[in-house]
Amino acid sequence: MAKAAAVLDYRARAQRRLPPFLFEYLDGGSYAEVTLRRNVAVLEQLALRQRVLTDVSSIDLTTRVFGMDQALPVMLAPIGLAGMNARRGEVQAVRAANAAGVPFCLSTVSVCPLAEVSAATKAPFWFQLYMIRDRGLVRALLDEAQDLGCSALVFTVDMPVPGARYRDYRSGLAGAPGLRGAARRFGQALAHPDWAVDVGLRGRPHHLGNVAPALGDKTGLEDFLGWMRTNFDSSVTWRELDFIRSHWKGPLIIKGILDPADARAAAQTGADGIVVSNHGGRQLDGVPATADALPPIVDAVGDALTVLADGGVRSGLDVVKLLALGAKGVLLGRAWAYALAADGEAGVAHMLQLIEAEMRVAMALCGRTRIADIDRSMLVSDEI
Ligand code: GLV
Repeated sequence: MAKAAAVLDYRARAQRRLPPFLFEYLDGGSYAEVTLRRNVAVLEQLALRQRVLTDVSSIDLTTRVFGMDQALPVMLAPIGLAGMNARRGEVQAVRAANAAGVPFCLSTVSVCPLAEVSAATKAPFWFQLYMIRDRGLVRALLDEAQDLGCSALVFTVDMPVPGARYRDYRSGLAGAPGLRGAARRFGQALAHPDWAVDVGLRGRPHHLGNVAPALGDKTGLEDFLGWMRTNFDSSVTWRELDFIRSHWKGPLIIKGILDPADARAAAQTGADGIVVSNHGGRQLDGVPATADALPPIVDAVGDALTVLADGGVRSGLDVVKLLALGAKGVLLGRAWAYALAADGEAGVAHMLQLIEAEMRVAMALCGRTRIADIDRSMLVSDEI
């Protein structure tokens, strides 16, 4: 098969390969998906300021985030169930990220557990935490992440309860526990034989690897969204940061901030970074696009902590635009999961090459040669 020309080509390939209950989970947002579309639309609307005849023969994309050198200012965002998209998917993705010199962030609700991912990579990776009601399990995960040398903890705070994802009900991922749901998902798998052999048969075990100790004889996949609804702790407040801090000594990043007041609170509690994020349009539909939320947050706390962003990034040009709005790094979400579903580790590696090449062209044509040179003046409307 010819190589994908663009990140979105991987979306089409992922759709062909995956059973619908997995593709719709990955591709979809919450409710009417207004925010999902808005993330993309606002980035599209931003105009880059082309400049010419400056020497752009040497472009340096390297950066340093939380004291670690990166080849590119991007990270692979935590994605639940990513390991169902390809055989032992998180292991394949961490290898691609490692080879490309960018951090990979493992979700709490991954298929491959921390130890399996750690065994597959020499470079440290990030771990993402959801606050599960069972604090013993949370403590154990934090201790394990610390022992395995994870280089940052991403604490996701925008899912005290999961948003309604209509597509998941329609596809059979949600609201269909029991035999009937399992039979429906099995039928979808049979209709996608490449996936059925690669992941269905050869990618076992299929369970939420990190939380397996709390699942008993369940896998967590029988009713994945129901499991999150039941086990995520919606009583959490800023005070819980003390609990996390007592078990985690490395950089702490709070993910899911959309409001300057919350960004200030994060800075006051001593977080090292935040991710300006609406969870890829998967939580509260109708909230602003991250490209709109980002500038006032950077103005409020950009000197106090490292501001990262995600949402709607489908090309290297989008990465550059979020950097221009003030992000110090950009998390790629669906982009890597589509590529993983389509072509495993090679797909993720190639997706990162596409992002890099596109970033280089955007920087060259805007007359910027270093990441530190990217600022709001790179956008035509610089009153933002
Ligand atoms: C879980 O993290 C999700 O967004 O589905």
